[in-house]
Amino acid sequence: MLLEISNFLHFIGLAWGVGGATAAAIISMKAEKNPEVAASLMKIIPALSKMIWLGLVLLIISGIAVTGLVKWPLDANLLLIKHALVVLIVAIGVLIFLKVKKMQKLARPGEKPSADFLKAKKQLGIFSIVNLALWYLIVLLSVLV
Ligand code: HEM
Repeated sequence: MLLEISNFLHFIGLAWGVGGATAAAIISMKAEKNPEVAASLMKIIPALSKMIWLGLVLLIISGIAVTGLVKWPLDANLLLIKHALVVLIVAIGVLIFLKVKKMQKLARPGEKPSADFLKAKKQLGIFSIVNLALWYLIVLLSVLV
């Protein structure tokens, strides 16, 4: 029963994490082309960001539980690579958080964006794409574990 509950929570964490990261990417892409979406971007992204962090916390807690509870053998090497990727996702997540804070500081509403702001925005875009790719890579790897 405990294993089923942990597995269930692992899937919920997966849905929140991958779903949140994918939705954030789609909305950010739309914001590039549509000023109306761009205007509300800063109101939508914090909610999605919370959903992704909650998903990650749930995945890590339930993942530790599943590891301890499964009765069948797990591929220790694949699991180790998976853990390294999870650490990377968390690290890049922190970098994304810091970049967003920096952009909020550099933002000058109504004025032309500064070179520093545009640089931070570009770096944010790269971090976001790398993180989204990592999410899908971990899912692929986990299916193989
Ligand atoms: C971004 C983080 C993670 C993602 C996206 C992820 C995703 C997945 C997926 C898609 C599966 C296969 C479906 C399932 O049986 O539930 C799985 C299984 C598993 N995950 Fe994770 N996981 C993550 C983090 C973790 C962590 C941190 C641990 C361990 C500390 C962990 C331990 C496991 C184990 C042991 C299984 C295999 C269960 C089995 O063989 O039935 N996962 N994970």
